[in-house]
Amino acid sequence: MSAPPLIILTGAGISAESGLSTFRDPDGLWARHCIEDVATPEAFAHDPARVHAFYNARRAQLRDPAIQPNAAHHALARLVAAWPAPALLVTQNVDDLHDRAMAGPAAGSLLHMHGELGRIRCLACGTGRRWAEDLSTATPCPACRQAGGLRPDVVWFGEVPLGMERIEEALEDCGLFLSIGTSGQVYPAAGFVAALRGRARTVELNLEPSAGTHLFDAAEHGPATQVVPRFAERLLAEWT
Ligand code: OAD
Repeated sequence: MSAPPLIILTGAGISAESGLSTFRDPDGLWARHCIEDVATPEAFAHDPARVHAFYNARRAQLRDPAIQPNAAHHALARLVAAWPAPALLVTQNVDDLHDRAMAGPAAGSLLHMHGELGRIRCLACGTGRRWAEDLSTATPCPACRQAGGLRPDVVWFGEVPLGMERIEEALEDCGLFLSIGTSGQVYPAAGFVAALRGRARTVELNLEPSAGTHLFDAAEHGPATQVVPRFAERLLAEWT
């Protein structure tokens, strides 16, 4: 039997052991900030300086040499590179830890559906580019020179996630779906498991059972750095 086309969905939990906060855990970002203040287009229109401060702090973490991909990011990079059928890693994370782990040809199999902290976009001229430094309302766009229009190239609540066409095509063919380190509270990602019901084998790998854990065919619970490498090795032993 040939290996099933694979989709892996990841969330903030996979980066937790690298030192990045999740959103909805008790010490998570949404316990310290209101979504309505920092993660909507309306928030940016109303108080761009506050929104920039939130994302500047998170972008700065990615420049911290202590923040590195962990064993779970590396295990998924190996799994995707070696998988003998189509494989797509869809992440809701805006950090770049999957990117760093997946250098090389496997990088084309990574899709940031909620955008990337390391990219910015100009609302005035539409130009997008990589950006590692702080942004402010005074930062001029390197392309059109206008200040005030630069925003983080992340998807805010009320905006359409990126790459949905590619994701929907992959969901059509998917035979194996892994959901890793996500609470399954934000759509459309939270709906992938239900869309695959009866068509693909679905597995949750998470620190604890998510609200939708009953929707999965199987689940393994524990820290990503322990559960994910073990599970990925088992899959590779079975299918390669
Ligand atoms: P959440 O914070 O909602 O969920 C993180 C999940 O990771 C929880 O179920 C935790 O139990 C689990 N977790 C925590 N530590 C873990 C570990 N060491 N190993 C494995 N699992 C662990 O984060 P997401 O589901 O990613 O969107 O959130 C989805 C979206 O909501 C984000 O992309 C962001 C947020 O609002 C936007 O900002 C648009």
